[in-house]
Amino acid sequence: MQQSSTIILGIESSCDDTAAAIIRDGKILANVVANQDVHKAYGGVVPELASRAHQQNIVPVVDAALKKANIDKSEITAIAFTNGPGLLGSLLVGSSFAKAFSLAMNIPLIEVNHMQGHILAHFIREEEKSNLKDPVMNTGTAGIPEFPFICLTVSGGHTQIVKVTDYFKMEVLGETIDDAAGEAFDKVAKMLNIPYPGGPLLDKHAQQGNPNTFSFPHPKVPDLNYSFSGLKTSVLYFLKKELNNNPDFITENLNDICAAVQKTIVDILLIELKKAIEQTGITTIALAGGVSANSELRKQFNELQKEGITTYIPKFEYCTDNAAMIAITGYYHFLSQQFTKQSTTPNARMKI
Ligand code: KG4
Ligand code: ZN
Repeated sequence: MQQSSTIILGIESSCDDTAAAIIRDGKILANVVANQDVHKAYGGVVPELASRAHQQNIVPVVDAALKKANIDKSEITAIAFTNGPGLLGSLLVGSSFAKAFSLAMNIPLIEVNHMQGHILAHFIREEEKSNLKDPVMNTGTAGIPEFPFICLTVSGGHTQIVKVTDYFKMEVLGETIDDAAGEAFDKVAKMLNIPYPGGPLLDKHAQQGNPNTFSFPHPKVPDLNYSFSGLKTSVLYFLKKELNNNPDFITENLNDICAAVQKTIVDILLIELKKAIEQTGITTIALAGGVSANSELRKQFNELQKEGITTYIPKFEYCTDNAAMIAITGYYHFLSQQFTKQSTTPNARMKI
């Protein structure tokens, strides 16, 4: 008898991306993201505008995912959605949609922790990799990290070092006590008049600059934790002083400033990650979150291979916020029959 397949519809709406994805038996069929350009004019995400845009985007995005996957909604086995952490108004749109869809189609509802989703994005399989072992039994075939591994999750909202011993056995070893790494990139970019979100553009300038022209201090934070708010302040004072002497200082030195700031952020990230590797003895490491796109971070991360470390970085579309990571996490919840009640409410500060 042929076993029927498990088709999960994933919904992500925790910040400013409205996303839907479809995964069949752990393999991606569709991954659709609608970015919200409305925030650009404000230089950052405006929560009220994000909720409204999610409300407008959610149905068309789900529709596009179904069409792309060539799946009828009646074929979906379960719906998974982000229930936190994130902006409450944004989370409410995705969770309300998922609850209604689950009731209308009479299928199970699965809540997903966004941060677990970023990490489990490493387990998304693509059609060409379909000869990989069954994901439930996976012991680490090419492209997918073997347990246990250490994941450095770096995004606009989070910076965490997580020890991952199984799909849902995750322990936060360290995290930022103030700004996230992506936030630091974006805030410094703003000071340098680089448009939002500044991280990717700052990276482009940095690649043309000399990181050793300027230097910025590292924070003193105990254990495996991070702090990036001090860096922001020191860049601010540095710029004020230099602009006093030369009003064109930023335009004349943009590439070198970007390179120095980028190197400082990446060095800070890597110092704590290396400590985590030493302390745990775990030599498989993975990167997750939007900042994984950063050229210097990828370079330094992959250089650890020379020290006998096995490194994993997911495809870029699975690093930034997306619903494929929510669908794959939902798939593993489904396999262990972990479902959610209709009475659930989003948790803006949900922990791993
Ligand atoms: O994971 P993500 O898409 O959304 C959040 O959950 O926050 O991450 C977005 C963050 C932004 O702060 C953005 O500036 C940063 O990732 N980012 C980068 C690069 N690409 C995206 N930061 C530095 N260099 C990049 N190339
Ligand atoms: Zn995220």
